[in-house]
Amino acid sequence: MINTSALREKPTLTGESVRLVPLGPEHTDAYFAASLDGEVRRLTGTHGHLTYTQAKEWCETRAGRTDRLDLAIIAPKDGRYLGELSVYAVSPENESAGYRIALSAIEFTGRGLGREATQLVLEYAFERIGLHRVWLYVYTFNMRAIAVYRSCGFSVEGRLRDSLLWEGRRHDALLMAVLRSGFRRT
Ligand SMILES: CC(C)(COP(=O)(O)OP(=O)(O)OC[C@H]1O[C@@H](n2cnc3c(N)ncnc32)[C@H](O)[C@@H]1OP(=O)(O)O)[C@@H](O)C(=O)NCCC(=O)NCCS
Repeated sequence: MINTSALREKPTLTGESVRLVPLGPEHTDAYFAASLDGEVRRLTGTHGHLTYTQAKEWCETRAGRTDRLDLAIIAPKDGRYLGELSVYAVSPENESAGYRIALSAIEFTGRGLGREATQLVLEYAFERIGLHRVWLYVYTFNMRAIAVYRSCGFSVEGRLRDSLLWEGRRHDALLMAVLRSGFRRT
């Protein structure tokens, strides 16, 4: 079984270039602004639009969720908001969970921040929560994300054909997963 207190008590995880902190009300403005970024919306296949009120409610309610982990990605030097990630759909019986991450703007991508954040949270997921399996979905056009996930030990388990319809074109998604034994911290 997993250690549910590691899900309930939200951690702060510090690396060289990122710090992961509990997503909270103080992140509402940055979280809402990120939800409007066109390129991030394309990469995550996000059709719907959040209202500011929905973003506020989301940020306000994360700390109280005992069944998942939602963390903001912050620059350790100046506290700037860089994005957010979640460990969700946790199945305690199967010791498995889903993972998603989105840096908040394209200017933050390609600097190693996503990889470091993913490694920090996977280490926590496997070693502290006690998960055995972490899975995710990624669109086939998102080569940067696929490269990061592979480097952390994820491998492709399946393909969801034509699962995204974006501006008139259909795209496949990949199901990727990493097991505790396959996690690589580089
Ligand atoms: C996906 C995401 C988390 C990756 O984090 P990141 O900080 O941008 O990525 P990193 O800088 O850590 O690593 C990028 C890697 O991708 C590689 N890469 C970049 N573009 C690539 C391409 N077109 N083809 C293959 N590899 C590519 C880089 O070479 C680098 O690998 P390397 O360090 O081994 O050379 C981040 O870009 C992000 O949040 N993007 C916006 C939203 C999103 O796509 N979320 C994921 C949805 S599944």
